[in-house]
Amino acid sequence: MHSIKVKSPATLSNLCCGFDILGMALNEPYDIIELIKKEESGILIKHKDSYQLPADPKVNISGVALQAMMDSLNYEQGFELVIDKKIKPGSGIGSSAASAAGVVVAANELLGKPFNKKQLISFAMEGEVLASGSRHADNLAPCIYGGLVLIRDTPSMDIIFLNIPPLFITIIHPQIEIKTSYAREILPKEISLKNAVTQWANVAGLVSGFMKNDYELIQRSLQDVIVEPVRSKLIPGFDDAKCKCLDAGALGGGISGSGPSLFMLSETEAIARLVENEMKSVYNQIGIDYKTYVTTVANNGVELIK
Ligand code: HSE
Repeated sequence: MHSIKVKSPATLSNLCCGFDILGMALNEPYDIIELIKKEESGILIKHKDSYQLPADPKVNISGVALQAMMDSLNYEQGFELVIDKKIKPGSGIGSSAASAAGVVVAANELLGKPFNKKQLISFAMEGEVLASGSRHADNLAPCIYGGLVLIRDTPSMDIIFLNIPPLFITIIHPQIEIKTSYAREILPKEISLKNAVTQWANVAGLVSGFMKNDYELIQRSLQDVIVEPVRSKLIPGFDDAKCKCLDAGALGGGISGSGPSLFMLSETEAIARLVENEMKSVYNQIGIDYKTYVTTVANNGVELIK
């Protein structure tokens, strides 16, 4: 094989109470990444989108992830990389993870699959570190594996797959910028025992709700008493939008990843569409441009395009 094309999905991380440990792959949107072997050494990056991301592989998320993999193989030839990003950078739905994960899965295929998925996550993590300054896999793991995953321990890549009942996910991406590194910097370094107890009870409740297809338990558990109170202040209209979405029948939701996108989970597509309308009306009123998605959980992570 000389070249390969993959689609790399957006992902929803944290899921309210599961900061840095829960994430799910989404069917929409996704990036398209083409990787072509070349004889000469080095990584040549071309962009098909208009996001003006760097072409220098040393400061490009995909370039850094691919280089980490090439270094571990002492690979001396090079690659051309053509990136068509549909997931807007800085949206909070795993744009950087899609760039990093897509390229390492593609390269692994082209090179005859020398690495397993956990190894691929660790190469991709180098790209995620460039983007956010921290090592978390709650976007990368679902992006590579698909479905809903729990990262019980990041250094040892203890990744657990969770069942999930049918769910519709509504996302609104208000067109404001929040850097993940900043959204992490402002988080408290210490938390009260009371909040810790509430948070881990909700994580356990949410995971149990997913495993038991118990929508009411999912609804009760979609709470975040630690991160959301701090980060939501960065997102105009957050409280109003959340309140209206819950009134429209959403099970619950909050900030998608580190923001600025908001997400809501719903039991039916009809409710997810009502929720979308509520989100739109809030941002129309405030006068902030936005993009919305109504989507479902992707069972597969990065996939080859034949
Ligand atoms: N879990 C991460 C965070 C996701 O909330 O900072 C963003 O990459």
